[in-house]
Amino acid sequence: MTAPTSMLLTGISELWTLDPALDDPAAPGGVAEGQVLREAALVIQDGKVAWTGPAAEAPAADAREDLGGRAVLPGWVDSHSHLVFDGDRAAEFEARMAGQAYAAGGIGVTTSATREASDERLRALVRGRLAEAAAGGTTTMETKTGYGLTVADEARAARLLADLAADGEIDELTFLGAHLVPGEFEGRAEEYVDLVCGEMLEAVAPHVRWIDVFCEEGAFDPEQSARVLRAGAEAGLGLRVHGNQLGRSGGVALAAELGAASVDHLNHLDSSDVETLAATASRPVAPEGGVAPEGAGPSADGGAADGHSSGRLTVDQGPTVATVLPACDLSTRAPLAPARELLDAGAVLAIASNCNPGTSYTSAMGFCVATAVLQMRLSLAEALRAATRGGALALRRTDVGHLGIGARADLHVLDAPAAIHLAYRPGMPLTHQVLRAGVRVH
Ligand code: NIG
Repeated sequence: MTAPTSMLLTGISELWTLDPALDDPAAPGGVAEGQVLREAALVIQDGKVAWTGPAAEAPAADAREDLGGRAVLPGWVDSHSHLVFDGDRAAEFEARMAGQAYAAGGIGVTTSATREASDERLRALVRGRLAEAAAGGTTTMETKTGYGLTVADEARAARLLADLAADGEIDELTFLGAHLVPGEFEGRAEEYVDLVCGEMLEAVAPHVRWIDVFCEEGAFDPEQSARVLRAGAEAGLGLRVHGNQLGRSGGVALAAELGAASVDHLNHLDSSDVETLAATASRPVAPEGGVAPEGAGPSADGGAADGHSSGRLTVDQGPTVATVLPACDLSTRAPLAPARELLDAGAVLAIASNCNPGTSYTSAMGFCVATAVLQMRLSLAEALRAATRGGALALRRTDVGHLGIGARADLHVLDAPAAIHLAYRPGMPLTHQVLRAGVRVH
């Protein structure tokens, strides 16, 4: 057995711990004074955060590195992506920029290319995309199946992802057999839903924690979506929904009603949808295998703070997080999701990349955060919290998205003295280094 080593990081001009133990709902932007330290230091021990505080009070450690006056954030928690695909849809994108509207049909193009790809090629493509995400500061990633759409192809994607998860390369996996009715089922959507809820779910469920559905005109209507989600819940999976992307699809109402952990996109909301999501914010969370502490609200997402060690919350309790996808909104020229209104109404907000070949071919979370500040009128604190703690809650995780004591040591070191540079210098390569569980991954 190797002796545990500790690493002291000094020279941190601004340290965003976002420590859940210090949560104060009245704090501006949801970030309390003590959750951002100046002239700070941090100790990592055995892959976890062991100490944070003023540099002048830092304890001794086995090793030490001076970060030279840089800002440190928790690694991004990207709670929505579709990384298992082959093929290129640049021509579709170009046509869209020339005025064509986005329609779900392009999913079929990627599905054909993905079915044809060898296992080795798909694995290499996914690993390349994970490396790109890490290079931008992402340390926790959710990704979905959804470009296979046969029992064999969906199971293949799920197995590939489960292997990467077993190697610690990815965190959260989702079954999205209900992404589109594939061409061979044209005119037989109900039969395809039967397949998704039956044989396909049975083949994929052992490999994943979540089930998702694209609830939208041209994909699955609310009744079909409910069928898919209920079958997933029955199989023990947590629920996620693509909702209200192209119109008021009913996805938001369905997600809230069925207790989904997240509903994502949200480009077409009216005030009742906003209220519906806000009303879920007070639903208590509970540690996996335990019960919610008396009176616990979503701030019981306290990771180390509430003492449980799995780092996971149960998938079927807690708020339906409103997940906005700024890069997708830009890439489809959709109305921006009303992140400001959602926060003002009291909804829990997450920001994710939605990296996929059709609507958002980027995993650059820093760009998403900059867009949320510049275009969606969030404060920096609100946007940072949504891209870290928000994503973690959307994935029912307590061990990531913050740098409180006991959290996984996922650090995003910026080549800048303060995090506001992410919005002040949008698009610049501001990632200096990235640590995942204390190990440098970029
Ligand atoms: O989240 N909306 C559904 N799924 C993806 C788009 C997939 C595609 O067009 O390939 C999304 O935007």
